Amino acid sequence: MMAAMPGARAASAPLMGREVEPTMFELSVTGRSAAQLRTTGIAPRDLGEIIPSEHLRDAPLETVALSERDLVGHVTRLTHRQFSVDLGMYPLGSCTMKYNPKFCDTVAGDPRLASVHPGAPAALTQGWLELLVTLEERLCAITGMAGVTLQPAAGAAGELTGLLLMRAYHASRGDVRRRVIIPDSAHGTNPASVTLGGYEVTTIPSNDRGLVDLGALRAALGPDVAGIMLTNPNTVGLFEEEIAEIAEAVHEVGGLLYYDGANLNAIVGVVRPGDMGFDIVHMNLHKTFATPHGGGGPGAGPVAVAPHLVDFLPGPRPTRLAEGYGWGEPAHSIGRVHGWHGNALVLARALAYIEVHGSDGLARVAQHAVLNANWLRRRLAETLPAAYDRPCMHEAVLTASPIKSATGVKALDVAKALLDEGFHAPTVYFPLIVDEALMFEPTETESVQTLEALAQAIESIAQRAGSDPEALRAAPRHTPVGRVDEALAARVLKSTEDAARPR
Ligand SMILES: Cc1ncc(COP(=O)(O)O)c(C=O)c1O
Repeated sequence: MMAAMPGARAASAPLMGREVEPTMFELSVTGRSAAQLRTTGIAPRDLGEIIPSEHLRDAPLETVALSERDLVGHVTRLTHRQFSVDLGMYPLGSCTMKYNPKFCDTVAGDPRLASVHPGAPAALTQGWLELLVTLEERLCAITGMAGVTLQPAAGAAGELTGLLLMRAYHASRGDVRRRVIIPDSAHGTNPASVTLGGYEVTTIPSNDRGLVDLGALRAALGPDVAGIMLTNPNTVGLFEEEIAEIAEAVHEVGGLLYYDGANLNAIVGVVRPGDMGFDIVHMNLHKTFATPHGGGGPGAGPVAVAPHLVDFLPGPRPTRLAEGYGWGEPAHSIGRVHGWHGNALVLARALAYIEVHGSDGLARVAQHAVLNANWLRRRLAETLPAAYDRPCMHEAVLTASPIKSATGVKALDVAKALLDEGFHAPTVYFPLIVDEALMFEPTETESVQTLEALAQAIESIAQRAGSDPEALRAAPRHTPVGRVDEALAARVLKSTEDAARPR
């Protein structure tokens, strides 16, 4: 046997099995590089000439040094060990993990968009400005709103922006308000954003149909209520049938309605939040408008507002001028919430998606998303009953409660076993108000054959829960990483670099 070569680890490793992929630090060899800098024609200058010596490092920053070949090998091996929307069905409820059409990547990769410096003056970036203004106009049309900011980088960032807008609006009227109401089924980012926005959270219970309890809402309302945050359909996948009454009650006390657009895929092109009475709407472009999502990649959470809030939007805003395009500052802007123009290439992808679908195509997206969720809900009725037995919207919240009572196998075990069957796990234990919740969001991009295969996989898991529950508790067994301690990572924080660096 050959002696191990000193220095870095080999940049080739088995794809399958439990062999751990080396970290980039372990592959690193000083002097190697994958960087290819474009030539600009500008003569190089010594750093010491332009940066005062006290700001210069004494020693070079320690970074990984990899050849392009080793870097591509590393990243490709990791992608092969990862479940992704490109690989198969990813029914992770409340996340809209749908297939992202590749033409959007082609648009975003066009050097005429990708190579433009965000600081380039308006006179040289008319194309980009037109793109941003057009996207704003499309998002206004889709939501029924009057103005949009494209700056927020994700849904949660949009929520905070929306709450700051709510604050600025009330303050401009000399109105001091303290509380924001949210239902008990809400996503965790909602109460977090309310707190960050400087308000107190008032939680109201859902009724036995999984909807906002109008009586409880009326009891919670008062002159100190700044607004309510809702998602419709809500997080149990049900449409708030009394949304008009909810809007009227909140507006009556001078509050505003915030629409959490995480579930927009259920209604896009069919119903507009503005027509339901909402004043502020965020959209997760990385969900509904199919820009890549998850894994820490960039997202975008534009916020659209009704006419009375337009003057408070973050600035500067791309603006259509009498001739061409420029930048404008809203009169009472809350200021910037993101550097430059937001995650601009995500915005370009979303516009490409909207333009290719058109309004009819977007409505079909919602119709098929709802159809697929209901198909799955009915198909699985005997195995995983629905938490609320009525038609759902784009996601079906089912419960593993009967399986758990009969066999001890939990929602988590079912979800993990699905990974062995070639499906990404659904969302588990959310919303919190449903026992042993399994939330499936098939999205419109999956075929009926794929849905049937998923149903059969779940039926097979349910059968095995009776015959061999121990095997399910050890699932997944055919993935590069087995069952992990899910809580440990949240309790024992290790920064990535520390964890990755060889000792
Ligand atoms: C209902 C709901 N609201 C808000 C968010 C937050 O969106 P983001 O992850 O883009 O910050 C999510 C994300 O999954 C969600 O499901």
